[in-house]
Amino acid sequence: MQQEAPAVDTTATDGPEIEIRGLHKSFGANHVLRGIDLDIARGEVVCVIGPSGSGKSTLLRCVNLLEEPSEGRVFVGGTELTDPDVDIDAVRRRIGMVFQQFNLFPHVSVRENLVLPQRRVLGRNKAEAEAVARKNLARVGLSDKSEAYPAQLSGGQQQRVAIARALSMGPEVMLFDEPTSALDPELVGEVLAVMRVLAGEGMTMMVVTHEMSFAREVADRVVFMDGGVIVEQGPAAQVVGDPLEERTRSFLNRILDPAAAEAPGARGEGPPAPPR
Ligand SMILES: Nc1ncnc2c1ncn2[C@@H]1O[C@H](COP(=O)(O)OP(=O)(O)O)[C@@H](O)[C@H]1O
Ligand SMILES: [Mg+2]
Repeated sequence: MQQEAPAVDTTATDGPEIEIRGLHKSFGANHVLRGIDLDIARGEVVCVIGPSGSGKSTLLRCVNLLEEPSEGRVFVGGTELTDPDVDIDAVRRRIGMVFQQFNLFPHVSVRENLVLPQRRVLGRNKAEAEAVARKNLARVGLSDKSEAYPAQLSGGQQQRVAIARALSMGPEVMLFDEPTSALDPELVGEVLAVMRVLAGEGMTMMVVTHEMSFAREVADRVVFMDGGVIVEQGPAAQVVGDPLEERTRSFLNRILDPAAAEAPGARGEGPPAPPR
């Protein structure tokens, strides 16, 4: 018999890991999210694509309550985040977030970047936090950088540290907001490789990205957003390879072949680029 209820109920295994219902978000008069409904199953990898300003970041930020939804409900692991009585800190600990800007603490070592949040937020003791940090630095291939400072690392390495830091908190879900957009092209692959491994391990992931080859290879589902709504969604091969909607098609043409998309008369004509 269970003696003590866990701080967070992790026993609900039936429903989706992330459940978004009728989500709206306005900033003043700017109605950014206009009714988002989305379920993400445990272990599923969903890539969110769409033009700049379509509300992708706002959607992710509503999923861990960095933004408060104006309307609608969000559940993670069966717990309603939008319930006014929820222990929001407890729920947030279950959600890791990785940003375009790595947001590492510049004045402490890589190891301390991983250890400090575990001690402050989770109350882990030093030995335990250090052990978890070591394990996660190994996971992202940076065991040898533990005593380095962030500024001594490449952008790709800093982003891998940011991923290891998020993983050190033991999240059930990982949200990525354009994790490779600030990187030089030659550093993108090492970050995507780490994300690919995480996906293979069964992490539930919601990834805003413009990396269509990653979406094709790794995503179970691709969601195309425009103007604060989901325009279409489905398997990557379908949404990226053979979209149903004209808006999706013209977006993909623009990002897969920007030069052609800008040529006169090129917009929306012809099939999207072939699989890469
Ligand atoms: N904190 C904020 N305050 C005011 N407006 C915001 C805020 N965050 C986002 N917006 C606005 O919401 C819209 C969608 O932004 P965003 O979610 O960042 O889009 P995307 O990530 O798809 O580029 C934009 O018009 C942006 O200016
Ligand atoms: Mg964004």
